[in-house]
Amino acid sequence: MATVHPPGPKGLPLLGSFLDFVRGMPDFLLRCREEYGDICGFNLGARRGILLNHPDWIHQILVQDAGKFQKSYALQRMRNTLGEGLLTSEGEFHLRQRRISSKAFVKTRVAAYAECMVELTQRLGSQLKPSQTLDVTDFFMGLTLRIAAKTLFGRDTTEDAAVVSHALDELQRLFPFLLIPFSEFLERFPLPNVRRFQKARCELDEVIYGFIAERRRDGRDTGDLLSMLMQASDDEGGGGRMTDEQLRDECLTIFLAGHETTANALCWTLYLLAQNPHIYGKLFQEVDAVLGQRAASSEDFAKLNYTYRVLAESMRLFPPAWTLGRTPLDDYQVGPYTVSPGSVVFLSPYVTQRDCRWYPDPLVFDPSRFAPEEAEKRPKMSYFPFGAGVRKCLGERFAWMEGVLILATLCQRFRFHLDSGLLKKTWAAVTLRPAGGLRMRVESRGS
Ligand code: HEM
Repeated sequence: MATVHPPGPKGLPLLGSFLDFVRGMPDFLLRCREEYGDICGFNLGARRGILLNHPDWIHQILVQDAGKFQKSYALQRMRNTLGEGLLTSEGEFHLRQRRISSKAFVKTRVAAYAECMVELTQRLGSQLKPSQTLDVTDFFMGLTLRIAAKTLFGRDTTEDAAVVSHALDELQRLFPFLLIPFSEFLERFPLPNVRRFQKARCELDEVIYGFIAERRRDGRDTGDLLSMLMQASDDEGGGGRMTDEQLRDECLTIFLAGHETTANALCWTLYLLAQNPHIYGKLFQEVDAVLGQRAASSEDFAKLNYTYRVLAESMRLFPPAWTLGRTPLDDYQVGPYTVSPGSVVFLSPYVTQRDCRWYPDPLVFDPSRFAPEEAEKRPKMSYFPFGAGVRKCLGERFAWMEGVLILATLCQRFRFHLDSGLLKKTWAAVTLRPAGGLRMRVESRGS
């Protein structure tokens, strides 16, 4: 019997919708949903893409049938940077590594990181001058990078920040290339984008191997992630130690996954707040009432309810991990359609979280949607900025604590205004960023 494909755009001969997809991420997927509904199929060159939008299907793929899928081709291609770290590894190995690393993200440990999150925010914030304009993407990238380095690896990385953010930019730029069929062969040629990226990757390696070498030299067990990874390898690895390469893969993955996403979420939050003064006002009220002038602590997290809702609503409209891709290991049935191995199933928080069935007036920024009584009315998987199931974000608790405390700490002293008008474009590749950065003007709340 002939395979029946889900309806979708036809695209060009051979290329299918590949160019529309890479040029128009993420709006291409949004259009697919608008035109074709909960399931839409398209060709991406030699590969088939299937976009699933309904929360029930998202649950089915990410949770119920997670074992029948692996990460998509694009993520697998990122092994060239991340090696066999948590984002890219599969199967038993992934589960074991996840068990080890998750110890660094239990509730008590994340609470212990709060002080550092607030202190570094205050320190970087004190360098802001009233009326100064700045690119807040750089500001937040620098801040979350320092927080991740300090809390997880016990390092002050002021000097490394530029290297890491440059490497991330190169990876983000290379991403569309990684999606090109046969790019693994093209990568062997000295193409300018590949060479730039390889250079950045070497510099990144130097930073991470530097962390590992220093810790091996001083032999301290500080209880941070790096110590846990070194220690746990003794406990669970049959007595053997993790090689430096394995440590490098895990550390690099968590380091990259653990700062860029939160930085993007905070940029989008300031962008949305600047356009919604009444919401900004309510946020100030909460921060003034809960914190006054004192430094926030981990206990304040549970009291900063409105701040939490502002961040949640910002990640609804601009989820930093805007799409998740999965490939079935065998033929997989979705409704009347068979999805074959080699196809990519796309599940996009960006698309599902803008669906008016779950979010009336979806483009309106309205944090009250995340009041518990409102959130309860929606299907659970209508909101999944952190994914779900066995591959759910390991750092979710860390990210909420960090995002809420940074936002509250900045709101104590500053208000940010848009300096360059509304953004014309998003830059969606590995993550969703404001294209060309985001320039904002700082106003001191005291003045
Ligand atoms: C707003 C901030 C963040 C967002 C939106 C986010 C989002 C995500 C998403 C959607 C996934 C699942 C990807 C998939 O299923 O294909 C993921 C995985 C992951 N995230 Fe996050 N993340 C954030 C912050 C963090 C932080 C702070 C850390 C660590 C410090 C972290 C570490 C990880 C790791 C290690 C994984 C891989 C988990 C696994 O496959 O076992 N993330 N993240």
